[in-house]
Amino acid sequence: MIQTINLQKLFATEEVETTALNGINMEVKDGEFVAIMGPSGCGKSTLLNILGLLDNPSEGEYNFYGTEVAKMTERQRAQLRKGSIGFVFQSFNLIDELTVYENVELPLLYLKTPADERKKRVEEALERMSIMHRRNHFPQQLSGGQQQRTAIARAVVAKPKLILADEPTGNLDSKNGEEVMKLLGELNEEGTTIIMVTHSPYDAGFAHRIVNLFDGKVVTENFHV
Ligand SMILES: Nc1ncnc2c1ncn2[C@@H]1O[C@H](COP(=O)(O)OP(=O)(O)O)[C@@H](O)[C@H]1O
Ligand SMILES: [Mg+2]
Repeated sequence: MIQTINLQKLFATEEVETTALNGINMEVKDGEFVAIMGPSGCGKSTLLNILGLLDNPSEGEYNFYGTEVAKMTERQRAQLRKGSIGFVFQSFNLIDELTVYENVELPLLYLKTPADERKKRVEEALERMSIMHRRNHFPQQLSGGQQQRTAIARAVVAKPKLILADEPTGNLDSKNGEEVMKLLGELNEEGTTIIMVTHSPYDAGFAHRIVNLFDGKVVTENFHV
């Protein structure tokens, strides 16, 4: 479903030029759970942002379900971001001014989902993530674990094919981290493809495959059974 060919990303500022990605070739099949690991600064987040259509590569090709992303219109890309990809970040990235319910509802508002369907889907996602009892709270009134469960509810509410997670347990204690990993594992078992950046070998154990990056390149890949 996902394929990159010789993906490169250069960041140029006035003083320095950084090669964040230096020829990434990778393939992720439908239903896979892939962990991306590697030292700080090796290009993990840059890669995830490109895979999530939040950023464009400087060179190389990215195919999303057989279509080259560079050949899509911005409108088509935006539609994919909204409908087919869910994002989970280390720092949760919830909107402070919106309640838990409203944060989770947002993707469906963007997709213009009808009100009754919206309500059903939001409630389903909140139940699923065991955060229904906090539906009218604001993010600042929640624990880290509750915020991340809200963020996962927001990521899955539109039923995306692909979830991209950038160090999803990075700001959580081990108990809440474990809970988040179990939820991601369940979503994967139900068929959602997951690509997750992590520093934690324990979290990477939930994945089928580990892709190790170093200096913007894939250095090794390990498969679990
Ligand atoms: N927007 C940006 N502008 C300039 N340099 C950047 C930008 N984003 C990332 N970089 C640089 O690209 C490299 C890879 O960064 P990143 O993908 O965030 O690494 P990781 O997530 O593996 O820690 C780093 O050297 C970083 O400083
Ligand atoms: Mg990063």
